[in-house]
Amino acid sequence: DWTSDSFVDSTVQELKEKLGDDKVVLGLSGGVDSTVAGVLLHKAIGKNLHCIFVNNGLLRKNEFESVLKQYEGMGLNVKGVDASARFLDALAGISDPEQKRKTIGRVFIEVFDDEANKIENAKWLAQGTIYPDVIESVSVKGPSATIKSHHNVGGLPDFMKLKVVEPLRMLFKDEVRRVGASMGIDPELLGRHPFPGPGLAIRILGDITSEKVRILQEVDAIFIDGLKENGLYNKVWQAGAMLLPVNSVGVMGDERTYEKVVALRAVESTDGMTADWVNLPYEFLQKTSNQIINKVKGVNRVVYDISSKPPATIEWE
Ligand code: XMP
Repeated sequence: DWTSDSFVDSTVQELKEKLGDDKVVLGLSGGVDSTVAGVLLHKAIGKNLHCIFVNNGLLRKNEFESVLKQYEGMGLNVKGVDASARFLDALAGISDPEQKRKTIGRVFIEVFDDEANKIENAKWLAQGTIYPDVIESVSVKGPSATIKSHHNVGGLPDFMKLKVVEPLRMLFKDEVRRVGASMGIDPELLGRHPFPGPGLAIRILGDITSEKVRILQEVDAIFIDGLKENGLYNKVWQAGAMLLPVNSVGVMGDERTYEKVVALRAVESTDGMTADWVNLPYEFLQKTSNQIINKVKGVNRVVYDISSKPPATIEWE
């Protein structure tokens, strides 16, 4: 019978035998899978696990700093690498969604390769791959999959020559959460909504600038904090905001405004393959909309996305 405790015990034992005194490199994303993989490996090999957490400048507001602190608090040997400028420079002027993904994937590999090369004598690359990633031939989840889907572009980066270790590859998401809980990982971290690897880049329709990222981070933080404060966060599978590439007319005092429109999206789902929009309370939507328009400069209109998947996707790009 599968229990999370016995999984942890037997996997830690197996990892110890397999890895011995070898050094292992792991990319942390702030998500559940890589975090659980990291804590499991840390239990097995301690400081020989070298974690790299890259800020691509497209994370949620304050996410990089707060998650990095959390990782350090868990005792992980982690290096935070702020590569925001490098990502934003590479993305300048790009509007096509697939081009954005490719660019982010490429820059991620460059940054990760630079960092991994600084870790001398590393023998292994650990990944937080879970069972659904294994069975989907083309997976788009997290830095690990970004590595997979782009590793054939322009020759192998050095870290791809490492042997791969994937301690979660037989687990489903709910099992990963239970394993995380049995190792004492913060329930709030384990209950986080999925967040795409390309981050806010695919929620900013059209081209990306640091100003647009800032606006969307503010809007997203108001929405997500509001969901949490109103006990709605855990009832929703995924939520976020989109910044639309159009201006609309509004009125503020006796001034005419011509500013950005944002769309809020919240969905119910089990695996992201299909999804229904969530019937959030009108009072909540009303309060959130007012807060966004009053607090976020540059936004004068908020709409709520009432499309299900299919045919609409969860992300707008
Ligand atoms: P869609 O928009 O395809 O999203 O309905 C389904 C789930 O996948 C996430 N998603 C991505 N995750 N890289 C990722 O790591 C991506 O390029 C990507 N695109 C979509 C999305 O957030 C949702 O959870």
